[in-house]
Amino acid sequence: RIPASEGIAGWVVEHGQPVLVPDVKKDERFYKEVDKVSRFKTKSIVCVPLKAKTKLIGVLELMNKVDGTAFTEEDVVLMSIFAYQAAMAIENARLYSELKERLEGEIQLQKKLSESDKFRALGLMASGVAHDFNNLLMGIQGNTSLMLLDIDSSHPHHERLKNIEQSVQTGAELTRQLLGFTRGGKYEIKPTDLMELMEKTSRMFAPTKKEIRIFTKYQKGIWSVKVDQAQIEQVLLNLYVNAWQAMPSGGDLYLQTQNVTLDKEFVRAIDIKPGKYVKMSVIDNGVGMDETTRKRIFDPFFTTKEMGRGTGLGLASAYGIIKNHGGYINVSSEKGEGT
Ligand SMILES: Nc1ncnc2c1ncn2[C@@H]1O[C@H](COP(=O)(O)OP(=O)(O)O)[C@@H](O)[C@H]1O
Ligand SMILES: [Mg+2]
Repeated sequence: RIPASEGIAGWVVEHGQPVLVPDVKKDERFYKEVDKVSRFKTKSIVCVPLKAKTKLIGVLELMNKVDGTAFTEEDVVLMSIFAYQAAMAIENARLYSELKERLEGEIQLQKKLSESDKFRALGLMASGVAHDFNNLLMGIQGNTSLMLLDIDSSHPHHERLKNIEQSVQTGAELTRQLLGFTRGGKYEIKPTDLMELMEKTSRMFAPTKKEIRIFTKYQKGIWSVKVDQAQIEQVLLNLYVNAWQAMPSGGDLYLQTQNVTLDKEFVRAIDIKPGKYVKMSVIDNGVGMDETTRKRIFDPFFTTKEMGRGTGLGLASAYGIIKNHGGYINVSSEKGEGT
């Protein structure tokens, strides 16, 4: 290696001019160490700058003519012409790959955006279905209640009618989630301390799940944010339930709130506004997810759980709610490590 700015090449970089050295022994600029390392015996040198327009991108150096004679002014001219062509080609290749990179970034962004389009469309569809579905359920509920009025608990159909009522309630719960997901439900936005909300919801959750230890890390002076409290509570409960189900033999749940400021660079790919946000984290050390699962968790009706345990709507509705609040929800998880 030749130290930067030493030797003939270094001189060319510094001055941006071609150099002709017919005999290196007579030129002080020649860096003698190089022959010791390379075991090459340099006699004559031509060195020309590689310039793309006005920008120097390198130098081109030739050593020793094959016929043993020294380089001439004519060689310098030939080399300069060649160097000009080479520099343009190199610079074009660089610009091309830069352009390609930027284009790939745009395509990535486009994919993310069409992702949220997909959710919007799904949301609209789901809310339509949810309303109709809810009306049907109310019909079943009404008739079941009327039949129950006519019979007492010793009647063989009593138990079955009770089961129907139970199923109707489960169905109603499902439509409630769908409506929450689609913003069809009523909104009530007020300034909220998310730390308090997290406290409150975790207190609701904690006593029923004794095998789970809850650790909290709340930043002091958390910013107030405008949210629909019922919906954010639902998001948190969905996350707690998932965490709990991921830790069948108990485990640790970490709850955190934190003020964060997201800059332009950060929000570019995730389709929200730059600015101040409050970040809530729900962390468990449960079974975790592999990549295939992780990629699909926000898809409506995606579940890895058995019938009756999972609907696959928890995270889809969480996604919808957070999105509607102008926020951003993300997951990181490792199989066997936690989420
Ligand atoms: N904390 C978690 N740990 C491991 N897997 C999780 C966790 N949360 C969600 N998942 C995965 O994401 C899927 C979808 O979650 P969700 O939308 O809440 O639906 P559900 O809980 O009804 O299956 C789950 O079935 C599970 O595979
Ligand atoms: Mg769930």
